[in-house]
Formats: sequence, C-alpha cells, structure tokens
Amino acid sequence: MRIADLKRLFGPQSVSPKFAIRNSQSEIFMSRGVHRFAVLVACATFFLIIAGANVTSHDAGLATSDWPLSNGQFFPKMVGNLFWEHGHRLVATSVGLLTIVLAILLQLRERRAWIRRLGWIALIGVIAQGLLGGLTVKLNLPLAVSAAHATLAQLFFLTTVSIAVFTSRSWMAPGVSINEEQGTVSLRALCVVALAAILAQLVVGATLRHSATWDQPLPTPLLLAHIGGAVVVTLVLGGAVMTSRLRYRDEKYLARPASLGGALLAVQLCLGLAAYITRAASPNDPQPLNPMIFVTVSHVACGALVFATTIVLTLRVFRVLRVERQTYVLAPA
Ligand code: HEM
Ligand code: HEM
Repeated sequence: MRIADLKRLFGPQSVSPKFAIRNSQSEIFMSRGVHRFAVLVACATFFLIIAGANVTSHDAGLATSDWPLSNGQFFPKMVGNLFWEHGHRLVATSVGLLTIVLAILLQLRERRAWIRRLGWIALIGVIAQGLLGGLTVKLNLPLAVSAAHATLAQLFFLTTVSIAVFTSRSWMAPGVSINEEQGTVSLRALCVVALAAILAQLVVGATLRHSATWDQPLPTPLLLAHIGGAVVVTLVLGGAVMTSRLRYRDEKYLARPASLGGALLAVQLCLGLAAYITRAASPNDPQPLNPMIFVTVSHVACGALVFATTIVLTLRVFRVLRVERQTYVLAPA
C-alpha cells in the first residue's frame, strides 16, 4: 500500500502524519496474514459443506455406524459410500485443526477483544458440530440431530466468513462513510430481516432434506413451507439488493456484495426447482443417481453462498452507513 493511499484512508488530522502512517502500516501488515488465514478457513468450510452434502445425497450417513473410528479403524479402505462418509470426517478434522490455529492466531495477533472472542466461538462451534456429527451416526440419523448438524454447519460457515470480513483491510479502513437517506426504508433493517429469513429458510430446508431419504417422497407440508420461505427470501433479499444497487450504485463496497447476492439468489431459485424435480423422481430410481446428487448438493452449497454474501453485505452496511439522528427542540411552554 502506498503512503498516499494510507493518508487518504486514515487522514493525518488526528495525530502527526508520520506516526499515523507508520502505525497503520504495521497494523495492516499484521492483520493481513490473519485475514488470509481466515479466508482459507472460510473456503475450507465451504468445501466441507459440499463434502457433507455429498454424504446426505449419496445416502452414505450410515456407511459406518462407528464413531469416532470408522469400522474400528482410523483409515479404513475408502470403498463405496465409506469414501463419502469417512472422506467427510477427514475434511471435518482438517477444518477443526485449521479453526484451532485461527483461534490461537487471533489471540496472538488481534487487538480487538471481541474478535478474539469470536475465534473461541468458532472453535466451540466446530467442536459442537463434530459432536453432533458423531451423535447422528450413533443414533442412526434421527431427523432432529441431522437437521441440527446441517444448520450448525451453515452457522459455523457464517462465523468464519464474518471473521474474514472483520480482519480485512477494507473493514479497518473502508474509506467511505455514507449518511443513510432519511424517510426511506432502512437498508440496515432490510439486511437484518433478509439474514433472519435466510436462516429460517435453511432450517426448513434442512428439516425437509432429512425428513425423507432419496427413496421416499418429500413431505408436502414442509415442501410448501420451504417454497413459501423462498418467496419471502426473494422479496426481502431482493429488496435489500435493489435498495443497495439503486441508492449506492457508485459505492463498490456495497454494490458488489449486493449484485453477487442477487445473482446467487437467482441461481438458488433455479437449483431449488431442479432439486424438487429430481427429488420427485428419485424414489423410482434404483439408487441415488448423479443428476439428483449434483443438483441437491449444489442447492445446499449455493444456499451457503447466499447466506455468506448476505452477511458480508449486512456487515458492510452497518460499517459505512451512518444513521443521522433527528434532534428535536422543545417548543417553549
Ligand atoms: C466439524 C465440522 C463438520 C461440518 C461443518 C459438517 C457439515 C456437514 C454438512 C453440511 C452435512 C450435509 C447436511 C445436508 O446435506 O443436509 C453433513 C452431513 C453429515 N455429517 Fe457432517 N460436518 C462436520 C463434522 C462431522 C463429523 C465429525 C461427523 C462424524 C461422524 C459427521 C457426520 C455426518 C453425517 C453422518 C452426515 C450425513 C447426515 C445424514 O445424511 O442424515 N460430520 N455434515
Ligand atoms: C431462497 C431460496 C432458497 C434457499 C436459500 C434454499 C435453501 C435450501 C437448503 C440450504 C436446503 C438444504 C438444507 C440442508 O440440508 O442443509 C434446501 C433443500 C431443498 N430445497 Fe431449497 N432453498 C431455496 C429455494 C427453494 C425452492 C424455490 C425450491 C423448490 C421449488 C426448493 C426446493 C428444495 C428441496 C426439494 C430441498 C430438499 C432437497 C433434498 O431432499 O435433497 N428450494 N433448500
């Protein structure tokens, strides 16, 4: 980063210019390594979600009913469905180790106490997720535990993405501050409602997915609830995306995640329709077939991306949008 950029971002007005520049340069240098590592953990988690979704779509959850070992072994032969089930455990172990390193890195290199705490929260999340995974195997995949495992996976992903956002250079020095327009719909509120609606949609989706294996028809009430949820998410997230694009089209910091969120939402709706069509046909198939597996795994993965993009947009909106407080002067009595 050039010195001119630093001056532009931080402004030399509060302290002597030399001090401000040297200080912010070392802070940025320090946090860049942590940020890159946080991005790595978030990407690994996304890969893990794809690996986990493959376990469900291949109906491989009980390829071994053993845990924490697989058929009494650390490294069983990766044949048949054990490839997906044990492979998923190996990827999960790697993500667990990466999360431990991230939590320690944050304790050592991060000045903000609340982000250090977020590191511990991520670690607790991944441990709880591992235990839920083991529990669902031991209990023969009960709906509540499998759906909780699927939902916590998305929340853990959200936490890793948030850590990546909080440690990014653009978070520390966004370089813009915008006053939210008065008298219009609050973009902050729209983003929060969109996040809540997506979370509810993920919970209903997970419950729907784990209510019926590939050889059973999906329960109609849950399917209708999920389709209703898709309408709500489309309206609220679509509203947040349009509002960001229309009001702040020149601010790439907001416009980029907004556009990406809109595009991912459109892809997710198409994948949802395709998931419905392939799942409606799958009970007549002799085994889970590749088109159904591909479409349902993609639908889970794209759902995670919609959630992640919306949290990025929401955090950025809260970072740069200033809400002007109205001051009222009492009329003389
Ligand atoms: C530690 C982080 C972990 C994450 C983030 C994670 C994530 C996931 C995800 C996203 C799914 C797919 C859910 C779906 O498609 O609806 C899944 C399925 C599954 N996971 Fe994990 N998992 C983790 C650890 C584990 C561990 C340690 C086990 C140990 C046995 C495990 C066992 C399973 C099983 C059996 C399924 C299939 C459940 C079913 O079909 O009902 N997971 N996991
Ligand atoms: C905003 C849009 C949507 C989001 C965010 C979303 C998200 C999800 C997620 C995350 C899952 C799996 C949950 C898990 O196990 O982890 C799921 C399952 C499912 N969704 Fe959606 N969905 C959306 C729209 C739709 C639409 C419009 C349809 C159908 C018309 C649909 C049909 C399905 C079906 C059939 C499943 C179960 C797939 C299976 O049994 O393997 N979704 N959804």
